[in-house]
Amino acid sequence: MLHVYITRPIPDNGIAMLKSAGYRISLQKERRDLSTKELITTLATKKPDALLSFLTNRIDSRVLSAAPSLKIISNFAVGYDNIDVATAHEKGIVISNTPCIEVVNSVAEHTFALMLALSRRIVEADTFTRSKKYKGWDPDLLVGHDVYGKTLGIVGLGAIGRGVAQRANKGFGMKILYTDMKRDEGFEKEYGATFMPLEKLLAEADIISLHVPLLPSTHHLITGKTLKLMKKTALLVNTARGPVVDEKAILKALYAKKIGGFALDVFECEPHIDCVPADRYELAKLSAVIMTPHIASATHGAREGMAREAAQNIIDFFGGKQPKNLIK
Ligand code: GLV
Repeated sequence: MLHVYITRPIPDNGIAMLKSAGYRISLQKERRDLSTKELITTLATKKPDALLSFLTNRIDSRVLSAAPSLKIISNFAVGYDNIDVATAHEKGIVISNTPCIEVVNSVAEHTFALMLALSRRIVEADTFTRSKKYKGWDPDLLVGHDVYGKTLGIVGLGAIGRGVAQRANKGFGMKILYTDMKRDEGFEKEYGATFMPLEKLLAEADIISLHVPLLPSTHHLITGKTLKLMKKTALLVNTARGPVVDEKAILKALYAKKIGGFALDVFECEPHIDCVPADRYELAKLSAVIMTPHIASATHGAREGMAREAAQNIIDFFGGKQPKNLIK
């Protein structure tokens, strides 16, 4: 009987799929992440054939070496920067992820929620109202920026970037600029989008939304030099990965009012809000910043979709089919 080790609880639909396909399941039942040491010991002792992991499980060469029986790592996430993919592939271990439509919709909606909240100062307004400061209608109170008809720059045209562009163009009449490794003429036609290099996009967009995976080439894609290219009123939204943005540079730009605002769901030194020294909450001191705790894919539908895809990737692989979400 093939054995799947799951590093923390997932929705029941995924467990049911694996069980009815005849897998033996070991589940780490606590709602916490295993340390690298615990993961090494567990894999070495339990010797699973498949590992169902989370983006918070750092799977480096030491972990991979402790698991000689492992054939597949099914990551319950869209991103897979937590896994040393090159070493896994050298060892013949297959990697898969869960970029299902439910996650695409959930992250695109969260990105839009951040965009609207930042433009319309929703968090400031909520704090103001709760603290009993509202004394009557005032035309100068908490004036924000329009979103309708503005120019949106999409950095990274994967499924989530496309989902954001669709909402922006069809729902909010936004002009779409995008940058990616390659052009997509079909996308350009459908949304009237314009392909351009990052530098030009940063200079022209009113709102910039990041949707690139974390790779050596995207680490600190947004830094002091690139921030300087942006409009003084530009808003930046990051629902991709924290280290795509140089946190120190963005703090400097925000304090100097070189850009209009920053909304983020991911942090450079996650789970810390700040890098060094950790957690002085510098970002939280700025009203032009909105933060959410890595919840862009946190809808019931998305979590169930992720559990389904994570289980299906394992079932397909051992059934002799190429998993749909194979990382190459
Ligand atoms: C979340 O960040 C994911 O990669 O699924």
